[in-house]
Amino acid sequence: MSETTSDFSSFSLDDFAPIEEQVSSDAPAEADQGPNLGGAGIAVVDEDLAVRDYLAGQLGEGVAKVRSISEMESRIGMGPIVVVLGPSCTTPDDFGTVERWGRSNPEVGVVLVTSELSTQLLQTALRSGVRDVLAAPIDQMQLVDTVSRVGDSLNSAAAVQPPKPGSPSMVDGLEPLDGQPGKVISVFSTKGGSGKSVVATNLACALAKRSSKPVVLIDAHLQFGDVAVMLKLTPQHTVVDAVSQLEHLDPAMIDEFTTTHEETGLRVLPAPLEPTFADQITGEQMMKLVNIIKEYAGHIVIDMPAYFNDVVLTLIEGSDDVVLVAGLDIPNIKNVKIGLSTLSLLNIPREKLHLVLNRANSKVKLDVGEVEKTLQIQAAAHVPSDVVVPISVNRGSPVVLSAARSGVARELDKLASRFLDGAAASAASGSRRRFFG
Ligand SMILES: Nc1ncnc2c1ncn2[C@@H]1O[C@H](COP(=O)(O)OP(=O)(O)O)[C@@H](O)[C@H]1O
Ligand SMILES: [Mg+2]
Repeated sequence: MSETTSDFSSFSLDDFAPIEEQVSSDAPAEADQGPNLGGAGIAVVDEDLAVRDYLAGQLGEGVAKVRSISEMESRIGMGPIVVVLGPSCTTPDDFGTVERWGRSNPEVGVVLVTSELSTQLLQTALRSGVRDVLAAPIDQMQLVDTVSRVGDSLNSAAAVQPPKPGSPSMVDGLEPLDGQPGKVISVFSTKGGSGKSVVATNLACALAKRSSKPVVLIDAHLQFGDVAVMLKLTPQHTVVDAVSQLEHLDPAMIDEFTTTHEETGLRVLPAPLEPTFADQITGEQMMKLVNIIKEYAGHIVIDMPAYFNDVVLTLIEGSDDVVLVAGLDIPNIKNVKIGLSTLSLLNIPREKLHLVLNRANSKVKLDVGEVEKTLQIQAAAHVPSDVVVPISVNRGSPVVLSAARSGVARELDKLASRFLDGAAASAASGSRRRFFG
């Protein structure tokens, strides 16, 4: 549809010469000096010249403008490059090519800019290996941030080999669960710094303390995970090791790859130490890993990054429950609304969702009731803003252990109860009932 360009209408199409005059056949070769990407180039691809110019304009100088994905092929394999696809690049063939690039060339990172975001488009794009999908109208900061993030992750990814795992040894063995496989709980938010890792580590520790079955915490913030630091662990192995051994994973290896948090018995599978390993891991691999581990663990808690990609999408879809963390400042609520609508776009049912309002008493005071009304969802926990949180983060000891009597710990314990007592979803959020071990 030629109308796909109408969302980029902040410029006049009259200014532009016909496509042939602007795009020379060797245009892709100019992509070598992309801004702020430490060596990775940038190319924008769209059949519409105005869209190409607009996107390139947002990204600064040295951006190659290319008419079609097939024309882009000649540039692939010549060094790291971020390819920004415009709205015209959404045919099955286009996604097929993106998927092939992903398999054969780790130095290509693809971002899709679309004028209309549908469930199917989002899923198809992420599954083909597109790193991020942005919907018009495009916020320049967001576009630049996304392209920079993808670019950063490419620069040293090419030569990286996953490390060899140590030889598995028999430790205090995990055993297959008697009944049902364990519950998978992912902790998500569409904004960084909203408290996901604080919630995930505390929730996991609270569960480990109170559950009779093993609990595993997985750090799926593959680029900058901080779960290990928050729990003061010095892990020998990471998600990368586990994923590289997917075909052979048995209880002894899971024991070997996870690091045990002594105080609670929680088993932790941390993020890779080098962010460059992150891009080698697919959503499918992560889900396979989770599915293996849940045969042995009563609960798996997954700490997520604050963006959607293939890994995040697949894990959220595969989770039994999604904890959505919202900080109570205004831009954050806007973000949560976007998060909620994206999750419903992905057909994640509301029953799976548990909203945690973080810093519920903070200075930028929003009426909690108003927020719940705006978001049309009742919060599962209102975590107050409290200095015990940064103190606990610094000490590497979760609040539920180091400040167990604080309001923060009580709310996080209440959240854990949802997943322990089964009456969870139906329990009113104001309920006083709690089940302390
Ligand atoms: N309820 C709270 N009260 C005070 N500080 C908090 C609270 N929740 C989070 N923080 C602070 O915010 C920082 C970011 O939290 P974190 O869990 O790392 O966010 P995310 O994982 O979403 O990026 C933490 O270092 C912590 O000190
Ligand atoms: Mg985090």
